[in-house]
Amino acid sequence: MAKASAADARSIAIDDLTDAQAKKELAALARELAEHDWRYYQQDAPTISDEQYDALRRRNEAIEARFQDLVRADSPSKRVGAPVAAGFGKVVHRHPMLSLQNAFSEEEVRDFTDRIRRFLSLAEDEPVALVAEPKIDGLSASLRYENGKYVQGATRGDGITGEDVTANIATIAGVPKSIRGAPAVLEVRGEVYMGGEEFVRLNAAQEKAGKQQYANRRNAAAGSLRQIDPAVTAERQLKFFAYSPGEVGEVTWSSQWEFLQKLQKWGFPTNPLAKRCATVDEALALHRDIGAGRKGLGYDIDGVVYKVDRLDWQQRLGMVSRAPRWALAHKFAAEQAETIVRKIVVYVGRTGALTPLAQVEPVHVGGVTIANIGLHNEDVVAEKDVREGDTVIIQRAGDVIPQLVSVVKAKRPKNVAKAGPWEMPDRCPICKSAATREEGEAVRRCTGGLICSAQAVERLIHFCSRLAFDIRGLGDIQISQFWENGDIQEPADIFTLPKRAEQLKPPLSERPGWGETKMRNLFSAVNSRRTIGLDRFLYSLGIRHVGESTARLLAMHFGSLDALRTTLDGARDEDSDARAALDSIDQVGPVLAQALIDFFVEPANKKVIDDLVEVVTVEEFAKPASTSAISGKTIVFTGTLEKMTRDEAKARAQQLGAKVAGSVSKKTDLVVLGPGAGSKAKDAERLGITTIDEDEWLTLAGK
Ligand code: IVH
Repeated sequence: MAKASAADARSIAIDDLTDAQAKKELAALARELAEHDWRYYQQDAPTISDEQYDALRRRNEAIEARFQDLVRADSPSKRVGAPVAAGFGKVVHRHPMLSLQNAFSEEEVRDFTDRIRRFLSLAEDEPVALVAEPKIDGLSASLRYENGKYVQGATRGDGITGEDVTANIATIAGVPKSIRGAPAVLEVRGEVYMGGEEFVRLNAAQEKAGKQQYANRRNAAAGSLRQIDPAVTAERQLKFFAYSPGEVGEVTWSSQWEFLQKLQKWGFPTNPLAKRCATVDEALALHRDIGAGRKGLGYDIDGVVYKVDRLDWQQRLGMVSRAPRWALAHKFAAEQAETIVRKIVVYVGRTGALTPLAQVEPVHVGGVTIANIGLHNEDVVAEKDVREGDTVIIQRAGDVIPQLVSVVKAKRPKNVAKAGPWEMPDRCPICKSAATREEGEAVRRCTGGLICSAQAVERLIHFCSRLAFDIRGLGDIQISQFWENGDIQEPADIFTLPKRAEQLKPPLSERPGWGETKMRNLFSAVNSRRTIGLDRFLYSLGIRHVGESTARLLAMHFGSLDALRTTLDGARDEDSDARAALDSIDQVGPVLAQALIDFFVEPANKKVIDDLVEVVTVEEFAKPASTSAISGKTIVFTGTLEKMTRDEAKARAQQLGAKVAGSVSKKTDLVVLGPGAGSKAKDAERLGITTIDEDEWLTLAGK
């Protein structure tokens, strides 16, 4: 069973994310999506399905919508389409290659024509003729002719700059090399696609040759067109439909329909189903007809494109963002298909969430071959009563994640009926640690944390993060690399790294990017963290529900790691002493108590801690001074502190026995005002609460 970072429906609901979690996840999403883009566009070898990719992109966008301040400069939402691949020259499109606005219902299509009518101030009864053309699911290309000779072919790329695939496009049957009677400069745009039969033939050949198969026809077309050797492209039976103009010397037509006739006259293949529709009703009827017949076409289409026929109107309508106002892609509704569940497997995500996944007999639906369908959680499986061997109906629309709609109970084999409902395992399929489900939660999670390979990288990143061990120089990328290479498997390995650096394979000094200074910095960062406070230590372990303040609370209560471990050791029974001891701690509820017990009784976690204490010293927690001037008081920090970080100030206040709050209320005793303090300063004044500046705070803090 594979670890599946992307298959994991990232476990925290967006509404529940904290700022810190959102920031971390946006960073991880930027990294992952960049990698998937590279695999897809540069390598033509995606490792996740389109649906999984879309789910990641949507999650990124949803988090950005909620945390607008955290949108990264390298956010995937700022990139559209493919960057230019290495290996091909660049072509800057003289006219940008546009995208299309989408509609999913007839109502949206009517809105589109109404908008056009309003924009052009047309009378109610003035007909708006539309040319309706199938929306081909391939990749768009721009073909340039000068004085009737084919001179250049380019991919769309990001719409502004594409790749020079002149020789490759020249191999496509039906693409004219020279044309008569055309303008001196003519760019013809259209879709390069692969037919169903060729796709099957190609994938069989790929399999035979031990090469990776293509996930769908669009990827196959893209991969085939973007071959460095055009002879390989020539072997793949690619096809082309022309549908729109790019740069044109002299425009000799006055409508899209007329342009399509010209294309045919010049010898370009155009789609035979395209039709000029006098009214929107006619266009919608064509959409229904084309939709009904799409399976028999032999190539994939994912909707119908409507274009305002009159060119003068197109020019007046212009663009909205990067799409023409005069065109609309009317997508088809979810396509459904029947298939059989071969097996239900359980994937473990980076956060430890266990996600059941149905492996089905591969079916072609909605433009892709579907072999896996996420089932979210065990409740969903139970509600739908999906079992291995069941016949199921699945659906997929456009770029939407495939869904399991229902089980065809009438087709359930007897042995499947007899076997009873599917059951979620209560052990992690990867590391065999207990997988538990908290009350009120739909998701079951592996408790293996640091030893579970599905979670290890994420856990190690957390372990090294600022509020944990704070190891500079061990960022996400380095940790992933060390992990993948087997150099760091558990936290203790970080501390033996300096000693092992030259025995690694290859030695660290011989790895790209690892110069002497960088190595020295990393080693000194590691060595400077060999002693750590108990609160940070507990936080770094990534125990569920143990955030920074809970870690402090536990450290304060137990004082030493030994005391904590002794209490929790052997705590498995409902009525154990450990549970009683935890229950007696103020602010420790049953959910946290259970999470602590689950973590500390797991032998693998015990080993992680045993190994760690061999290489680091965990300091006992200095009990807060009960006599300090601020012990028992509630403090709020606001504005920028210039002489110590907010984290340090907070820690110091807590060490002195104070409580740190995020907002000013009647319960606040003291507000520390840094420069730029805003509404909280006003609140303090209104409520008559004592305020001090940073210097006064430093005196109070004994610094
Ligand atoms: S017209 C301004 N017509 O759909 C004109 N596009 O979602 C823009 N496509 O990038 C394109 N069939 O790759 C047009 N008959 C058709 C099309 C079509 C497929 C693709 C094209 C475009 C994408 C936008």
